[in-house]
Amino acid sequence: MTYHFGAPPLDSLVEDHRVHRSLYTEPSIFASEMNKVFGGTWTFLAHESELPAANDFVRKKLGLRPVIVTRDRTGALHVLLNRCTHRGATVCRQDEGNARRFTCPYHNWSFDNTGVLAGVPIEDGYGPEFDKSQHGLGKVRVESYRGFIFGTLNQEMPPLETHLGVAARLIDEWLDRWPGGKLVVRRGTHRLVCAGNWKLVYDNSADGYHPGFSHASLLRMRKERYGGGVDMQWALGNVDEGLQTVADIGNGHTFIDQRAEIKNYWEQAAPMPGENRYEQIIRDRLGDKADAALDVVMGSGMNLNIFPNLLIIGNQIQVIEPQSVNLTHLTWYATALEADDLPPEVNALRMRLQEDFPSFGEPDDLANFEECQVGLGIPEMEWVLTGRHLNTGKEYTGPKGLLTGPVSDELPLRVFWREWKRLMTSTAALAAS
Ligand code: FES
Ligand code: FE
Repeated sequence: MTYHFGAPPLDSLVEDHRVHRSLYTEPSIFASEMNKVFGGTWTFLAHESELPAANDFVRKKLGLRPVIVTRDRTGALHVLLNRCTHRGATVCRQDEGNARRFTCPYHNWSFDNTGVLAGVPIEDGYGPEFDKSQHGLGKVRVESYRGFIFGTLNQEMPPLETHLGVAARLIDEWLDRWPGGKLVVRRGTHRLVCAGNWKLVYDNSADGYHPGFSHASLLRMRKERYGGGVDMQWALGNVDEGLQTVADIGNGHTFIDQRAEIKNYWEQAAPMPGENRYEQIIRDRLGDKADAALDVVMGSGMNLNIFPNLLIIGNQIQVIEPQSVNLTHLTWYATALEADDLPPEVNALRMRLQEDFPSFGEPDDLANFEECQVGLGIPEMEWVLTGRHLNTGKEYTGPKGLLTGPVSDELPLRVFWREWKRLMTSTAALAAS
């Protein structure tokens, strides 16, 4: 098939049961996605715990745009385009820090952390009409929901919480596993580089079909050494006869719910170094509350995928960072829970578990993403199938009225592509302020 983009719309490339390979390989589609998808909806940028204090900042990307997420002296959040209004250089060249101003190293124009142009050396060279107030940094619309900061260039987007919808309620459930606990993501990251298109990652994020095969060596090793009940054993065998489900939770967001497979979180946690000693300390300190504290060590049993780039997996946050049509960075942020009544050993154990899957499982996934990109480069083989359980009658209306299916259902792919097509064909104006 010859690649078409624009009119006629993408109908010939995105069908219910299959999508065209060019969506993963065509540079002009990638370029359009960085505007229409990553600029056209609420896109995750950072977690508030990465910039906890007044004047903190972190450097991120909105699609390919370099941005600075700042907290001003009053505590308000801003997302600034990291692009000097003089001749285009980036004004912030550090990943994180604390600064009331950003001074462009090229000619020292300086901007405060709300984006206002504050200083221009030898300003009279621009003549008497020059108005600094017209030359502030570009600003991205920003909102935060329970610490998750999102930005958009689409001024018509509804408020963030409305857009998240059911996903907001699931974020609540994810965060409220330890009442009063505060989630913190600044305890380290696991950075991965993938020679594949960013959508291969999202395709996999609610794919309950692959774990028993892709991660077979990890799962079998755990089963042989630690018994059948341990974490993710439910991914082996015919998963459609198990208790896991996938659901369409609206606006491109999807959800794998593994919680029905987990009878006792702590007992089913994967093994970790030093766990017996840590467990004893927690039991000695907390008594009756120890079981509940140990349960929050283990992953939540939820995979919550917020379109297009935020994946909440177990206890972690994974962020998809597209670089080019066939290069993607993936960052796994470990999370800690801060609460006065939670001993530090809980977070030590959480960290051991959060080192586990990115080290021993994610390389399996990355290898498959990269091999998909290689295979998708063959022009004569055009289609990627997305129709599993589309016509088997296994989908049903589940809790909260959500379309739900067995965990190997490719419903999440169809949900993704529907939202992707909607955004890619949208005529909404995108702009910074
Ligand atoms: Fe930034 Fe000149 S490009 S001050
Ligand atoms: Fe996987």
